Amino acid sequence: MKRTILSAAIVMLASLAVAPVASADEPIQAIRPPANINLGMVELGKKLYFDPRLSKSGFISCNSCHNLSMGGTDNIPTSIGDKWQQGPINAPTVLNSSLNVAQFWDGRAADLKAQAGGPIANPGEMAFTHTLALNVLESIPAYVREFKQVFGKDKITIDEVTLAIAEFEKTLVTPNSRFDQWLLGNKAALTKTELDGYALFKDSGCVACHNGEAVGGNSFQKMGLVEPYKTTAAAQGRADVTGKDADRFNFKVPTLRNVEMTYPYFHDGAANTLTEAVDIMGRLQLGKKFSQEENAKIVAFLKTLTGDQPNFTLPILPPSTDATPRPTPFAK
Ligand code: HEC
Ligand code: HEC
Repeated sequence: MKRTILSAAIVMLASLAVAPVASADEPIQAIRPPANINLGMVELGKKLYFDPRLSKSGFISCNSCHNLSMGGTDNIPTSIGDKWQQGPINAPTVLNSSLNVAQFWDGRAADLKAQAGGPIANPGEMAFTHTLALNVLESIPAYVREFKQVFGKDKITIDEVTLAIAEFEKTLVTPNSRFDQWLLGNKAALTKTELDGYALFKDSGCVACHNGEAVGGNSFQKMGLVEPYKTTAAAQGRADVTGKDADRFNFKVPTLRNVEMTYPYFHDGAANTLTEAVDIMGRLQLGKKFSQEENAKIVAFLKTLTGDQPNFTLPILPPSTDATPRPTPFAK
């Protein structure tokens, strides 16, 4: 009797393995193109995203640290801010950030609009003030006209600035990765090695934290669940927001979309390669030491998550006027 049940179970498992799996059953979903976008606001937000005049130096824009030619990151361990200051933490990608449960590694900003005002006034980043940024924008008639056209108001406030940037960021999603093509039914989109990697990713338990449309971004989890993570970085993760000891070292799980482009990895940028990051994740989060071959398969899978990158004409920024406050690029 026992044997019959067991063999029945084995037959069932075997048939599961060969049966085509509907994408709804997968822990990862395909990225949908952005919906309900205000195109006028997007065009304005795009200009602001690229405009270094929102910084004190006149040199640093959002795109300096979230370079859209490089996966929405700066590809250095921690960012360089005003006066070449060393940043405290790795810059996460802006790609697909609209899918995040909250913004920043510790989730201290609720959404993209709440986030966008931060860097302009952060002394370690763009080092400006909101008032000075607004003075710059209001001195440029083409900006004043465009704000009026989009928001129907004569006066520009930081609210409209952050709304427009956030609207542009909503368009920075990356659908159509090879993995998504596979999810949507094109079974030839992935190789055997990549599929083996995905099976390892699921069966080892990576999907417990990296799941959903963004393959992450939807929860805060402890870094160093099984084995502690050693770092010299000061960030305490979620505990910096809640003040609770239980939240110490809980970080927002990063998205793994486009992860082949967003090196180096982790909040301190300490892992230079995907091989290294996967090895550390296996050991610290799951108590699992992957063989070189297993690691390579998982890395091959992760590289299938690179989607269509944002594709648009570079915005041409309206020139400053005689009335525009001048930048302060060097220490005075
Ligand atoms: C000097 C570099 C720098 C500049 C300039 C900069 N950022 Fe960031 N950005 C960072 C860093 C570093 C973080 C992570 C900070 C943290 O989590 O504590 C970050 C976080 C973010 C996040 C959150 C992403 C996530 O997954 O949590 C978004 C969105 C973002 N920045 C958008 C912007 C926008 C929009 C601008 C321009 C207004 C901008 N950034 C300017 C370095 C920069
Ligand atoms: C318990 C939750 C959890 C599990 C399980 C987990 N991760 Fe993570 N993962 C995280 C967190 C949290 C971070 C960010 C940690 C940090 O930066 O300090 C992260 C970061 C990463 C990064 C770096 C991404 C970046 O942009 O910095 C990669 C790659 C990664 N995980 C892959 C994996 C793989 C592969 C597995 C399975 C072997 C896995 N993870 C299992 C929570 C988890």
